[in-house]
Amino acid sequence: MAKRLDGKRVLITGASRGIGAAIAIAAAAEGARVLLAARKLPGLDAVAEHIRASGGEAEVFPCHVGQLDAVEALVNEAERRFGGLDGLVNNAATNPYFGPALGTPWAAFDKTFEVNVKGPFALSLQVGGRWVDAGQKGSIVNVSSILGLRAAPFQATYGMTKAALVSMTRTLAMELGSAGVRVNCVTPGLIDTRFAAAMTESPEILRQYTDRTAMGRVGQPEEVAGVVVHLLSDESAYTTGQIFAVDGGYLAS
Ligand SMILES: NC(=O)c1ccc[n+]([C@@H]2O[C@H](COP(=O)([O-])OP(=O)(O)OC[C@H]3O[C@@H](n4cnc5c(N)ncnc54)[C@H](OP(=O)(O)O)[C@@H]3O)[C@@H](O)[C@H]2O)c1
Repeated sequence: MAKRLDGKRVLITGASRGIGAAIAIAAAAEGARVLLAARKLPGLDAVAEHIRASGGEAEVFPCHVGQLDAVEALVNEAERRFGGLDGLVNNAATNPYFGPALGTPWAAFDKTFEVNVKGPFALSLQVGGRWVDAGQKGSIVNVSSILGLRAAPFQATYGMTKAALVSMTRTLAMELGSAGVRVNCVTPGLIDTRFAAAMTESPEILRQYTDRTAMGRVGQPEEVAGVVVHLLSDESAYTTGQIFAVDGGYLAS
């Protein structure tokens, strides 16, 4: 039986755990060949092994997405291994400072923008540019956050980077749409991963979130992955420049 991503080659950043790993596993289960990137190999290898054991095709490549030469090497590697790409998921992110905006350390500010904004922008230009040059269609999915659409107390810099991805999504969608390159964005709410442990392990923050959320619970990485697979697939062929909340109804309140 045909699968939703048969024949697609997809690069996923931050694929060694959490939401990125769930996206990689879901995309491979739908027939995509996936290239998994993150800084450290052991986590990537474990996810790739899991995919291969389930009959899927996965490759790994270590990459710090905030470094331009590393980003170019990653996209060259996709060409070398797969002969190109059909999808890009900008999922990797960092959030090194949790505290009042007034106390923001500049080193943390710079690192957060480098990984969360410069990396996805550089990857989008590398991958999107090659698609345009080759006259090839493609789909980019950016993983933002509800904190890019609402105030982000104690996470000012992180929230700003996630708002930047929303802007980037809309602008690249407009600039690249006529070439057949689609650019969309998901904004997860609180999802049960290591990244969110500081929040999910705080009963007070957890309650504040679940009280405001229609579904009254945090999300699971697989629940984000399903929407991303849809946006990578041809089911969403006429959808671009859109922001999809995957937040159990948080933004609805
Ligand atoms: N969890 C949530 O509640 C939540 C909510 C809203 C949005 N999000 C967004 O969802 C995405 C994934 O988050 P998550 O919760 O799955 O996080 P996670 O479990 O901490 O995973 C983060 C991934 O990014 C990789 N990574 C970190 N820095 C990197 C860098 N400089 N270069 C390349 N890879 C890097 C990590 O691997 P290495 O450490 O090996 O590099 C890891 O694979 C992020 O964009 C995050 O902002 C998460």
